[in-house]
Formats: sequence, structure tokens, C-alpha cells
Amino acid sequence: TGRIRTQHLQQAKDNGEHFAMLTAYEQNAAEIFDQAGIEVLLVGDSASNNVLGNETSLPVTVDEMLPLCRAVARSARRALVVADLPFGSYEVSAQQAVATGVRFLKEGYAHAVKIEGGRFYAETVQAMVQAGIPVMAHIGFTPQSEHAIGGYRVQGRGDDAQRLIDDAKVLADAGAFCILMEMVPTTTAAAVDAAVPVPTIGIGAGNATTGQVLVWQDMAGLRSGKMAKFVKQYADLRTVLASAAKAYGDEVRSGQFPGPEHSF
Ligand code: KIV
Ligand code: NA
Repeated sequence: TGRIRTQHLQQAKDNGEHFAMLTAYEQNAAEIFDQAGIEVLLVGDSASNNVLGNETSLPVTVDEMLPLCRAVARSARRALVVADLPFGSYEVSAQQAVATGVRFLKEGYAHAVKIEGGRFYAETVQAMVQAGIPVMAHIGFTPQSEHAIGGYRVQGRGDDAQRLIDDAKVLADAGAFCILMEMVPTTTAAAVDAAVPVPTIGIGAGNATTGQVLVWQDMAGLRSGKMAKFVKQYADLRTVLASAAKAYGDEVRSGQFPGPEHSF
């Protein structure tokens, strides 16, 4: 099987099928998810608060993300690799966005990029697509705008649904190959999906979108603390890893490891 490309995600939508996306930030996870058949790997700016120890996605920089992106792209044989453009690396102008997008394709080996924001980014999306950079648009709750939005709040409730529908239409018209929606009521996400020809991806957006995405450390139960309502934990890696580390430490302290079978 060859590389998943943007047109394969479009085919999924056209055929009424679904596809899966997970975040990935390094080699092992990328290899595992790629071989497990996950169609899209997102080198999310969530690396900031899942890998680099920050509290939010805001502090991560392009220079910090590029090596992570390269690692994922080198490790994924089949998956489409999408990179988040970090906060501050695309908002200033369409020119700035093109320049940053080029870096992620040229130096990060990404196949596409994702930016956060609605209709005001139409010109930016158009310029990037014109430059040969496929763009995924992230609407609804956009974590980089946490302080402007006033916290983690569901977007597109009631009368506000039309705003998201209009944003999605404008972005799709501008050339975005996919619309990602975060923390949006199921009915609103369904209306957005019906309003645009391109595939949609949801996180906390119900089951009517073409694709779904989760942060892998949330999905696999590696992360500590309270999970958002939209997270489903498919494993308990934190417990598995903690008991492995404990057993190793105990065996080293007691002199049980290394045994003759691990020695020269
Ligand atoms: O950075 C990220 O992980 C994301 C998604 C979960 C959509 O943007
Ligand atoms: Na992100």
C-alpha cells in the first residue's frame, strides 16, 4: 500500500467512510501508529504540553517542532504527516504563513500543515495552497486562542453554529483540503460537514465528521490528570510503564538485575 494523500481523505468523505488521526511526536509512536493503520499523523503543537513540559500549546516554537516533525515523517511509511504551525508563526501575514509552511515541508518533511482560525485566514490559506502547501484548517475551540476565547469552551452552540458553518465554507473555498473542529456540538459539526465538500475531522465534535483525532498520550492513558470529556482511553500505559520502572528499580537495588543472561 502506498502513501495516504489528501485525495484519499476526500475519497473517504465521498464514500461515506471514516479515517483516524493521532498525534505523534517521535519515532516509536509514529512507527507503531503507522503500522496500526492510522491514516493521518499530526505533529501537533500539543508537543508543547505533552512532550516539552509546558502548560499550554502557546510556548512551542518552529525550531522546537521541526526535529519532531522530521522524526515522525521519517518513521511513517504510509500515513499522511500533518504539522501544526505553532502560535505566532503564521498570523502576521500570508507571506509569514507561506514561509513557515515551506519550512515544515522542506525541513520537517511534513506533507501538509494545519493552522488555527476562521474566515479571516482565507487569504493565508489561498497563498499557502498556491505555494504547494496543503492546508488543514482548525476551527471551533482553537487552543492557541485560549486567552482570547476565555478558556476551554465549547464553540458553535445554538445560534453560534452558523459562524462555524460560514468559517468552514470560506476556508474550503480558499482551498483548505480538510476542516478540523474541536469542542463543537454534534449537531453543529454535522451541519458543518454537510455544508462543505471537503472531509472534516472532529475532536470533541461527535460522530458525524469524516475523521477523528485524539492526542496519543490521552488515547493510550499515558498522561496524568483529569481527561477532557471527549477523550476515550484505549489503554493504561501510565500504569504499565510505572510498574515496569518500579520492577527495574527494585531489581537493580536488590542486585537481581543484571543476571548472568544479561552479562558478558
Ligand atoms: O495539537 C494538537 O494535538 C491538535 C489536535 C488534537 C487537534 O491540534
Ligand atoms: Na494543535
